[in-house]
Amino acid sequence: MSAGMSGEAASRKSSKVPRLVVMASGRGSNLQAIIDAIEAGRLTAEIVLVLSDRPDAQALERARRHGIPAEAIDYRQVGDKAAYYQMVQERLDEIQPDLIVLAGYMRILPPDFVQRYPWRIVNIHPSLLPAFPGLNAQRKALAYGVKVAGCTVHFVDEGMDSGPIIAQAAVPVYEDDTEESLAARILAEEHRLFPEAIAQVLAGKFTVQGRRVILNPPQER
Ligand code: GRF
Repeated sequence: MSAGMSGEAASRKSSKVPRLVVMASGRGSNLQAIIDAIEAGRLTAEIVLVLSDRPDAQALERARRHGIPAEAIDYRQVGDKAAYYQMVQERLDEIQPDLIVLAGYMRILPPDFVQRYPWRIVNIHPSLLPAFPGLNAQRKALAYGVKVAGCTVHFVDEGMDSGPIIAQAAVPVYEDDTEESLAARILAEEHRLFPEAIAQVLAGKFTVQGRRVILNPPQER
């Protein structure tokens, strides 16, 4: 795709490619999906930093493998929530990202942090919100007996997994599912949905009316 890039597209690439900071606490498979989408030309963006609260996060390794700056601000070492978020905020202020992407970031951002970035923080959650917010969403879905599960990309607000919904994808729940098999089916959809939703947000063609994210023009499907 890049070989055939027009001059206009090339200059856009050098000057105005949206800059992402990805925050991740663990495995980093959603980070990987975003990296892959960028490298494949499906998502026009640059990840300028992967920031983790854990120095042992696999996400950091994945970033470095792709030449992406990766840093940890070790929450446990800092040991104080206010001090930790002050450090994160200072780092983000230096970087001035266009969008903050939470990809398996396992902490709740404090309200003043969220308010600094209106409609500029997105998260992915492995359930069809508002069902099953919080930890172990796949286990909760299975235990509840739902027949359809899925994942949600949403803007981050002051609550837990409660912000306006940008995109969702559904998967069936089978009788013989385990937590692991259901999580794997959902995860495959996460990897498809998250880069697509990020692209829509970066295109800037949306409004938020109350709880509703109105994509304009409407999503083509
Ligand atoms: C994903 O299931 C995501 O929906 C949730 O945390 C998990 C992160 O997985 N928020 P990974 O680190 O992206 O592999």
